[in-house]
Amino acid sequence: MKMIPKTLEDIASYIVKDGKGILAADESTGTIEKRFKSIDVESTEDNRRKYREMLFRSPAMAEAIGGVILFDETLRQKAQDGSYLRDVILNHGSLPGIKVDQGVKELEDNSNEKITTGLDGLNERCREYDELGAKFTKWRAVINISDGMPSTKCINENMLALSKYALIAQENNMVPIVEPEVIMDGPHTIDQCYDVTKNTLSVLFEMLDKKNINIKGTLLKPNMVVSGTENSHQANYKEVAEKTLDCLNSSVPDELPGIVFLSGGQSDVDATAHLDEMNKIGGFKWKLSFSYGRALQQAALKAWSGNDSNLEHAQKAFSHRAIMNMKASLGEWSESLES
Ligand code: 13P
Repeated sequence: MKMIPKTLEDIASYIVKDGKGILAADESTGTIEKRFKSIDVESTEDNRRKYREMLFRSPAMAEAIGGVILFDETLRQKAQDGSYLRDVILNHGSLPGIKVDQGVKELEDNSNEKITTGLDGLNERCREYDELGAKFTKWRAVINISDGMPSTKCINENMLALSKYALIAQENNMVPIVEPEVIMDGPHTIDQCYDVTKNTLSVLFEMLDKKNINIKGTLLKPNMVVSGTENSHQANYKEVAEKTLDCLNSSVPDELPGIVFLSGGQSDVDATAHLDEMNKIGGFKWKLSFSYGRALQQAALKAWSGNDSNLEHAQKAFSHRAIMNMKASLGEWSESLES
């Protein structure tokens, strides 16, 4: 097993070193069932193990993936050869992490807004995850844009929960990945996405500061600033990159070691191209990398389609996307590398 970083600061920097990023493989039982349904595969424990083991044993893991976010089941699960999946990840020099939020509920009765749950018993769960070898954690807050939304209450309560979570994670020796996701679905403009994202991030960093969170031992997982999916003007790569960087520069402290974007429903190549464009522009202190779920897995999931004879083919599909995103994190991607 390779040298494992120990302090919060070292863990956070290790994950995003040399263009590396994160594979988000922490789909809850309900979400992975949905993903498997799209390829007509039943979501059994063994199929989930097989699919995720295929990803974790891919050739690009060692080169491009600094950390993998897992769901509770996977952190405890064994590979086909009897070793733990978390050790398969570690053996590639990548760190296992764990999703610790417990999903969302209505912010208030009959509200369309959400609040993330999972603070009850979080300290005890984190203590166990630390013992099981998780080096980092993730908590996702969901912010929707619509008429009158998001409310001040939605932003304040979600960012407060993120700061409480971050404190508990750090007290248990694990790096918190704070994920305030401004959802891209809807008819809103890119400028509305910009305003909401900027406000959300400003409140988040104020709250993290109030709780004395060690920012050097923290990673931010934000959305990019993009046009709403149903808006008639879809911003191009350059506009997305410039507005996202402008938004981050105005609200994120320099001492944060890394920003790892979510893909949020962007196509594989769009998510890569946007990241590359930002790194080509440069001018910031943090590492700017990826923590993609769908944008890293879609092609591999399809290539696998539940068939053992496709495992190698699926690994190639995953490795290709992982390498493309690593290049984008270094500002070295170009469309010609896709073919
Ligand atoms: P997507 O990249 O598919 O948005 O998933 C990232 C994630 O971890 C959401 O919490």
